[in-house]
Amino acid sequence: MESAKPDHKIVLIGMMGSGKSSAGRRVARALNLGFVDLDQRIEERSGRSIREIFATGGEEEFRDLEREELRRSLEEPGSAVIAAGGGIVVLEGTRRLLGEAQEVIWLRADIDVLVERVAARRGRDHRPLIDGDPRARLAALMVERDDLYREAATSVVEVDGCSLDEVVERIEAVLRPLSSSVDSGTAES
Ligand code: S3P
Repeated sequence: MESAKPDHKIVLIGMMGSGKSSAGRRVARALNLGFVDLDQRIEERSGRSIREIFATGGEEEFRDLEREELRRSLEEPGSAVIAAGGGIVVLEGTRRLLGEAQEVIWLRADIDVLVERVAARRGRDHRPLIDGDPRARLAALMVERDDLYREAATSVVEVDGCSLDEVVERIEAVLRPLSSSVDSGTAES
């Protein structure tokens, strides 16, 4: 029998290292929703790593793939938590797509927290934009993006000083009013 409950898409946005993927996966599991990691989807569909995409097609190709992957995820049936890459707000067309989600939650963190979290995997991760001097690169990107995150977000969750459990709780609190009407996802889980 088909459910009468509407599909909800909840997108987590914020800088690299803010915890979108780990918190998103946990929230999806707790609320029995689908989970999509956009970076992972881009790599799977293109058959290339994010580093390879940046090296061959540059940031421009990556942003196009990112926009199309967000579009697909939003169109998939079922409710889902979508963990976006940090640059999801860069293209205007992608920002417009974010407006189709029921909730866009900005995981906001201070630079020190971000630097500490990204440091461990430096150079071996999916984050070519912060190669070299991660603190300087992250700081510059934050200046460019903070207003865009703020405008795109329907809610803000502060993650400074929070454990993963606490971040998950805060996201669940934002979603509580929605959860009675959220249908379980059929997207990737
Ligand atoms: C990017 C963030 C990365 C990845 C790509 C670009 C960005 O994702 O999409 O390296 O522009 O902030 P995470 O935010 O998951 O690290």
